[in-house]
Formats: sequence, structure tokens, C-alpha cells
Amino acid sequence: MKGLNVEIDTIFPKSDSVPKKFKLAHVYEQKEYLIGGEIRIWNGAVQQVLSPVCIFDGKSAKRKVIGSYPLLTAKEALEAIEAARKAYDNGYGKWPTMSVEQRIKCVEDFIFRMAQKRDEIVNLLMWEIGKSLPDSEKEFDRTIDYVKDTIEALKELDRNSSRLVVEKGILAQIRRAPLGVVLCMGPYNYPLNETFTTLIPALIMGNTTIFKPAKMGVLLHLPLLEAFRDAFPPGVVNTVYGDGKSVVGPLMESGKVDSLAFIGSSRVANILKHQHPRLHRMKSVLGLDAKNAAIILPDSDLDLAVNEALLGSLSYNGQRCTALKILFVHRSVADKFNEKFCAKIEAMKIGMPWTDGVQITPLPEDGKASYLTDLIKDAEANGARVLNPSGGIFNETFFFPAVLYPVNEKMRVYSEEQFGPLVPVVPFDNIEEPLKYITDSNYGQQASIFGNDAEQISDLIDPLVNQLSRININSQCQRGPDTFPFTGRKDSAENTLSVSDALKVFSIRALVAAKLTDSNKTLINNILKNNKSNFLSTDFIL
Ligand code: G3H
Repeated sequence: MKGLNVEIDTIFPKSDSVPKKFKLAHVYEQKEYLIGGEIRIWNGAVQQVLSPVCIFDGKSAKRKVIGSYPLLTAKEALEAIEAARKAYDNGYGKWPTMSVEQRIKCVEDFIFRMAQKRDEIVNLLMWEIGKSLPDSEKEFDRTIDYVKDTIEALKELDRNSSRLVVEKGILAQIRRAPLGVVLCMGPYNYPLNETFTTLIPALIMGNTTIFKPAKMGVLLHLPLLEAFRDAFPPGVVNTVYGDGKSVVGPLMESGKVDSLAFIGSSRVANILKHQHPRLHRMKSVLGLDAKNAAIILPDSDLDLAVNEALLGSLSYNGQRCTALKILFVHRSVADKFNEKFCAKIEAMKIGMPWTDGVQITPLPEDGKASYLTDLIKDAEANGARVLNPSGGIFNETFFFPAVLYPVNEKMRVYSEEQFGPLVPVVPFDNIEEPLKYITDSNYGQQASIFGNDAEQISDLIDPLVNQLSRININSQCQRGPDTFPFTGRKDSAENTLSVSDALKVFSIRALVAAKLTDSNKTLINNILKNNKSNFLSTDFIL
């Protein structure tokens, strides 16, 4: 059997050893962008796209060039927002005035078209962001399910508001109306899923949209451009690509973005929000940084804690906002935990995204291995060491997970969100220590508690739910199931996402009300019976 060292040294394939099924059909030189229902061709500057997967040419391994995408400018960005505004037309547009049922039909048409592109998108997910085949498939399927669940949730919402209410002599119909133009910006780690968990609810509620993918995970949206064009009226979905400063800055500064849906860092979210000239007019839906902690109590089932900590900290190489990014382990069980945890890590399967059973794959961010190495050096200088023999060995974009122990507050990795395969372990004697960490942290997303004493766990749940948004008992942190609320406090989020919550955050309650006089009754009956309004309507969607 090859040693891990050798395996890492020779991890990258030669071009001819990439399985035929996963070879890219062509280099994706994307020129297209969608504005106002028209797929336009860009002839200006482009951004080259390098895969995290390197190809070994016999001498060295280099990141494979898989294509390029347009570096649009402020001009195209402003054209996109004008197209979105025209389609919204101050709420007079075809899309915002359409019945809910008709909008659902358009979204159903879109997912039908999207489903045809599964293989191509899954393959692009692997090549663009290095996600394993099963995880890429899961991301695609979870997204389709999310859209289907959104449709069902909207039907339910619509059914509940399809009746009139009478209160204190006033008759009313209360529904939800769109906000206007929504700018959707997704992250690189879930480029399809997390983008669609804002884009689809925003659309289905009657908003018009501009969608800008993150720096990485762009090309995988290309196969969907025609579907966006054909399933929705012109201007309802517009796409922009390029450097954030050049395209997003002008969009925000125009003051014409009514809602910002952004999944990324709190630093960038702050910049974007402040660029809007009338901030109070813009509703923000933000999924931001997190540094979720696990607390492993002395009476916990250590095998279970090890398995969950492994999944929590290293699924998709630790590149999840919900990942466990610091482990607090009671000193009395720390040695045992570390031993079991490191053994599991050393046994993790490494390879390319398509390798059977692969658990650790190359990283897409430029310079990530050297950033993680710096974090290790800093921790070592402050008294920690890498516990697992292969921890921190890297080759180009591949970095083997490292467990750092004992971590303390002097180290960068104690508070920085590493977003990668580095696991800091902090021993503690008193439960106040991890609690203080959570209280003092700038982040407030989730935590995991491992233990079996009902009293002790309850004592932790009660203060922690007031600081975080989800406490996981004997389980890793995670977003799903998607019907559960997903949010955070402090620098971790603004507003709540879930299948049903997302419909609410991209809409506002609006009502039609009238004093219950005979003439008003006649008038409203006339509107209802003759189906004259899409809003004031008692139609029931089946
Ligand atoms: O990156 C953040 C994702 O929303 C996490 O989702 O917990 O289902 O992996 P997940």
C-alpha cells in the first residue's frame, strides 16, 4: 500500500486517466449573458476559469483550464437593472401582476428544463469547485426538491390567504406582494443550491431578478441560461458576471435594488449595503460567516462524537458555512477523542471528485493551501501541534486535513473562519470556557453539544438558544432539512431562510380592505365572481 505522503504527491491524474464519463465535453468559453430576455454575446475581457483539479503532465501538476466567463462592466450591469425594472414596471409588469398559479407554471417549466441538464451541471460542479460526485449529485437533486417544495409551500400560503376576513366592520383580503428587483448573489461552495434558495422564492413571489454568481462556480449556470430565457417573461431573470467592484458596486449605487440576497462574507455584505443610497428601502437577506463550535462533554458517546465531528468539520473539505470550525473537548476525554479522531482522519479517502468513495478533494480557492499552512504555523508558534501524521501535507490545490491541539485564544485559528480542512481542538476544564467563547464570538449560527446528561444539556440549551439559532444535540451542525429555519445572529445572518420563510422574506404583506357597506359588498362580489383581479380573488390553487 502506498504511504499517504506518496499518495498525496501523486494525487493528480494524467489527462488520459480522467475517466471518459467525467471528461469535459469542451472548454467552456462562456460569452453569453442574459438581459431583458435576450442572450447577448460578450466580446470584451474574460476571466479564465481554473479547476481545482490539476493535471499531471509527466513533470508537474497544473490546474486545468476549463473555460472562461465574461468580465462585464458597469454598463452591462446597469442595463441588467434597467431590464429588471422594466419587467417589474413599478408593479404593473406582466410578472408581478400575474396570478400565483401562472407563476408556478413558469417555475415548473423551468425545473423541467433544468432537470434535462443534470449530468452536465453535476460534472461542472466537480470540475469547477472540486465537489465529489455524490455531493454534486446531492446538491443538484436537493435544489430540484427545494424548488418543488417551494411550489407546494406557495400553494399552501395562497390557499390560506384565499379567503376574505371581516374584522370590526372591515372586509379584507390579505396576501403577499413582491418587493421589486432582487439582486441574488450565491456562494462558491453551494453555487447552485444556495443561489436557488433565494432566486426561486424571489421569482415565484413576483419579483424580477438579477443574478450574479460568486467568483467560482460560474460556468455550471451556463447550461441553464436558455431555460431562464424561455421559462420566464423577458427581464424577469437577468445575469451579470465579473468582478464585484465593477458590476455589483454600480448596481447598489444605482439605488434600484429593492432586495439584496447575498450569501458570503459579512465584510462584503457591509460594503454592499453601504453602497445603497437609500438603505432603508432595501431589504437584505444575508447568509454570512460562522465559526460553529462543538462541545464534547465527559459523558458523551465518544465514537458518535468522533463520527459527527468528522462529518461536521470535514464534509466537502470543511467548506460549508455550517461546518464545525472549532471543537471544545473536555480535558478528561481529550486524549481519547484525539486518538480516535486522528485515526479516522488518516483513513479518509483522498482523490479527485469522481474517485469512488472520495472524502477529501482539491480546494478551489487560490492560495488556500498556503493560507491554511500559515494558520498552522501561527498555531505552532503559540503552542499547538498537528496531531495527525499527514496533517497539513499539501500538493498544489490538495491539502490533507490537519488536527491542531491544544488550541488557545492566542492563535488565529481560534477566531478566524478557516473554511477548509483544518480542525482546531481546544481542551476545557470548565463548561464556562466554551460558553464564553460563544458569547464573545462575532458569529452566532449554530453549535453542537455532545453528552448524555439531561440536566447538563438543558443547562446549555437554555442560554445557547439566545445566542445562536440552532443547537444540535449529539449531531453535527447543518442547514437541512430545508423546511427548517436557517438563520444566525451577530455577523452570521440577516433574516431567515427555509422553504416557507423564503417566500415571506421576498414579499411584503399587502391587503385590500373595504368598509362592509352594501355597495362595497356588491362591488367586491362583482370583482370576485368575474375573476377581475389576480390579487383580490378567492380562487383556490389545487
Ligand atoms: O454553506 C452553507 C450551507 O448552507 C450548508 O448547508 O449544512 O446542508 O451543508 P449544509
